[in-house]
Amino acid sequence: VKVVHTIEKFRGELAELQRPLGLVPTMGAIHEGHMALVRRARSENAALAVSIFVNPSQFGVHEDYESYPRDMDSDLARLRDADVDMVFAPSIREMYPDGFDTYVGLGEIASRLEGEFRPGHFRGVATVVTKLIAIARPDRAYFGQKDAQQCLVVKRLNADLNLGAAIVVVPTVREAGGLAISSRNVNLSPKERKAALVLYQSLCLASDLATSVASETRRQMRELIEAEPLAQIDYVSVADPASLKELDTLSGPALVSVAVRIGQTRLIDNITINESSASA
Ligand code: PAF
Repeated sequence: VKVVHTIEKFRGELAELQRPLGLVPTMGAIHEGHMALVRRARSENAALAVSIFVNPSQFGVHEDYESYPRDMDSDLARLRDADVDMVFAPSIREMYPDGFDTYVGLGEIASRLEGEFRPGHFRGVATVVTKLIAIARPDRAYFGQKDAQQCLVVKRLNADLNLGAAIVVVPTVREAGGLAISSRNVNLSPKERKAALVLYQSLCLASDLATSVASETRRQMRELIEAEPLAQIDYVSVADPASLKELDTLSGPALVSVAVRIGQTRLIDNITINESSASA
């Protein structure tokens, strides 16, 4: 694996690689969820680049930018083993040089759910993803379904700004018990890790309920999560999978998503229910 830190070097090295090129954007702290993206990308492309950049512009002032897990040595070892061709690990200055003053503005999809609880988050995500795609010009870029809203935002911006990559969404990887694998899981104590199972349990409950009344699904999910003393709900959503508007009636596919704080750690998860009842 070749590791480069500047845009110029990255572009120069990429020009020597065969196409198609796959890009897996990450913030490092590589885990099995990332590895699922890497393996999928490896299997679909002649060349594979992974970016590692903890993007400050997507963290709010009171969020965990400083404490976000970082482990470059272990990341590189895992990516080397997975036969990644190039790793792009730029500095903040390389990505946001003096005078940087352009951010991607977003519409409605980004204003809901995470957008409501993390103002400015998707502006930062959209800006850095646009830059990474513009820098690498990949044929395909890979994102995890765990960040369902991020996937929608990225698909939208890729189409609206004609970035030209195919956006590939890879299913969520879960631990035994169902906890979605996330970089932030390392911050959970053993007790919190157990409490965190309530996220997936609430999603399974939504999937098992026979009701067609979405508010009833949300109510029962809330009740389940609130029974866990360490859990604080940010939102419980049963929404249209394309617009993320909250649903009244469950007659077709729905994106069921939750954001819950377990102690100091904020976790998100989602599943799509009624997928087979897609009518259009
Ligand atoms: O999902 C992530 O890790 C980040 O939001 C991304 C897409 C790498 C942008 O910084």
